Amino acid sequence: MKKLVVLTGAGVSAESGIPTFRDSGGLWEGYDVMEVATPEGWAKNPTLVLEFYNQRRKKALEVQPNKGHEVLVELEKYFDVTIITQNVDNLHERAGSTHVVHLHGSLFESRSSKDDALIYPVNGWELKLGEKCELGSQLRPNIVWFGELVYKMDEAVHYAKQADIFLVVGTSLQVYPAADLIQYTRPDTQKIIVDPKKPDYRMGDIVFIEEGGGAGMEKVKKLLLS
Ligand code: APR
Repeated sequence: MKKLVVLTGAGVSAESGIPTFRDSGGLWEGYDVMEVATPEGWAKNPTLVLEFYNQRRKKALEVQPNKGHEVLVELEKYFDVTIITQNVDNLHERAGSTHVVHLHGSLFESRSSKDDALIYPVNGWELKLGEKCELGSQLRPNIVWFGELVYKMDEAVHYAKQADIFLVVGTSLQVYPAADLIQYTRPDTQKIIVDPKKPDYRMGDIVFIEEGGGAGMEKVKKLLLS
């Protein structure tokens, strides 16, 4: 079976009703990134940070996977599929994808603010001030914030290097190191990008499908199975 490696971003969840970050009306509008998605913001105001992610978690639990997620599940019949997602929702898993790497962490995990190795499930939508790890320190969302190490990057690079097909769906490719993953593919890897807006990225030998996740993934399926 050919190896299909898929890098997904906020755009793949847009049709489920989760706003992207950088489109107009996006998630960062109305929020100062530095306040809610950095270690400095956490140190300054943990209540605000917990509340921000509690709202994201609540929303993620309310919505359903969409056609784009579903086509990625269907492709497991024909390819050895690995999804590397920048998304912190769990819509790929809920759709049925079996191999998902969460590069930027997960809304449904908390971790110790003292020891990064202590990770716990978050049940329900709320992580509260006062909920502590076994070492007695406050639990934080297990999300990779700006300025933090993307500790799953080595694993993601490993998969990118093995890809026979590398598909990018719904990411503006503005955030590194994720945006660089495509550079680790082989010269003969088939490369496809699905996005309604062409990302500002050196295109080279890449097939570009200018569509939303649902319609775009149907086209990808046709292309790959033809
Ligand atoms: N289908 C597919 N793609 C879409 C759709 C759609 N219906 N609607 C919008 N998009 C595209 C946009 O054109 C854009 O290229 O999704 C992309 C979303 O880009 P961003 O908002 O920048 O999100 P993303 O690339 O996932 O951000 C990367 O940045 O804020 C941090 O950690 C956060 O993981 C996030 C990272």
